[in-house]
Amino acid sequence: MGTHATIVILDYGSQYTQLITRRVRELGYFSRILPGDATLARIQELSPRAIVLSGGPSSVYDPGAPALPAGLLEYQRDSKIPLLGVCYGMQLVVREFGGQVKKAESREYGRMLIHASPGTRLFGAVPAKSFEVWMSHGDETRQMPEGFVASARSASGAIAAIENAGAGIYGLQFHPEVTHTSHGKELLRQFLSEIAGLAPDWNMGSVLEEQIAKIKREVGPDQHVICALSGGVDSAVAATLVHRAIGDRLHCVFVDHGLLRYRERERVVELFETKLHLPVECIDASREFLSRLDGISDPEKKRQIIGAEFIAVFERAAQSFARSIGHLPEFLVQGTLYPDVIESSPGHKHSMTIKSHHNVGGLPKELRFKLIEPLRELFKDEVRDLGRHLGVPEAFLKRHPFPGPGLAVRIIGPVTPTHLEILRQVDEVFINCLLEDELYDRIWQAFAVFLPVKSVGVQGDGRTHDHVVALRAVTSSDGMTADWYPFEPRFLAKVSSRICNEVKGVSRVVYDISSKPPATIEWE
Ligand code: XMP
Repeated sequence: MGTHATIVILDYGSQYTQLITRRVRELGYFSRILPGDATLARIQELSPRAIVLSGGPSSVYDPGAPALPAGLLEYQRDSKIPLLGVCYGMQLVVREFGGQVKKAESREYGRMLIHASPGTRLFGAVPAKSFEVWMSHGDETRQMPEGFVASARSASGAIAAIENAGAGIYGLQFHPEVTHTSHGKELLRQFLSEIAGLAPDWNMGSVLEEQIAKIKREVGPDQHVICALSGGVDSAVAATLVHRAIGDRLHCVFVDHGLLRYRERERVVELFETKLHLPVECIDASREFLSRLDGISDPEKKRQIIGAEFIAVFERAAQSFARSIGHLPEFLVQGTLYPDVIESSPGHKHSMTIKSHHNVGGLPKELRFKLIEPLRELFKDEVRDLGRHLGVPEAFLKRHPFPGPGLAVRIIGPVTPTHLEILRQVDEVFINCLLEDELYDRIWQAFAVFLPVKSVGVQGDGRTHDHVVALRAVTSSDGMTADWYPFEPRFLAKVSSRICNEVKGVSRVVYDISSKPPATIEWE
């Protein structure tokens, strides 16, 4: 991206690889992940100024265990680009330089105390000579590789870090990227700033300028761009950025599929038009969507219907823009993020489809637009930061994620106007209670679910037979795993009482205490 010094992270399959990338970026350096078996040519294309080898689940002597890219060490030796191996990455270095890696007699897992040797380069930045680090490995270095010294050892004497400062090669058996490692960030900073000699030059202000310049270069003066807004943070930030670059040659569409939350359409349109001064064509397609969903209970069928209908509505919107500007817009903005790019890049394992996710921006491949993806190098928190630079209001940036198929996947069973209405009201009460009690920002996602169940209740002196709704609130860092949020009973009592009093047709409220896995965040 731009002219920033690039740090290449070679991925050997560790659950922490993305975390290394993020830590490097937090220090102000641009970093990219490549698969551990990337070709040398691919690595050289990025002109890296430093290389980090990630951890991984394998043992270096396993048959078929991932190895360093052919020619990497020769390239490193000739170019003097500093190299840091983390965990499995360090073990690869040990083996390559003639040391010995063996199964550890006792696995080191969790917090461990290490002692840094005096006078080493990498640990020079850390004032403490003994500190806690996070270990997670089954193999250990038994025999030092040639030309290296042990720069740290654990309490048992096991080798915790190695270096060959003259050759610019370093290794850490522990994980500097996890927060449990004290001084982890200082070690990474020392590697990048002192050892690689790089000045931090990556921040969202510079990303913003670069992206605007890039879009101006790519989109010709008579060309137009179309963007589907979902009401979520990513498409909003992407559209605002593109609007900065090309002004009213950006045409935004917001499709109301009738599956939105309470007053969602009004809120989104107000945000775009009043706060961000971004004109939006708001299309009310709720009748079409709801009639196609009529009587459908199967979750995957619901998703497919919604996806197909979106394409149809979007195509009509594009044709309508074409009539007013004289031709179809040439470009489509998508809010693709870096984790999506990593997941779908060659060399990364694809997981089986649990749900066919439907992102409004990702749909109309048939229309053959050229893509503008200004967020494809960024993580979610970086997108929020970029949004702040663009003046997107904080309350909007902190909004919980909302799925493309909307309330359709939060109504179990068929989607009807009555069920939608009840769900909207319950959801609104729940979210307002979270805001009032200042819990909203502590939670990744909170919402209500309409259940196809009626239960007996009593209100006043009469028997009722009304609907049951479920509440869901989870904490998560990326939506891949999640824990249910442990509300105080007092809070749950307040929400339940308000829902039953304020929403006609509901007499019972249950709270979902399932984590992901084994459940998913949404119910469908
Ligand atoms: P699950 O339910 O799979 O959800 O645990 C993980 C995250 O993804 C969101 N989600 C979706 N987002 N289109 C989207 O844009 C979808 O079809 C979709 N399904 C789930 C969900 O809200 C959670 O944040």
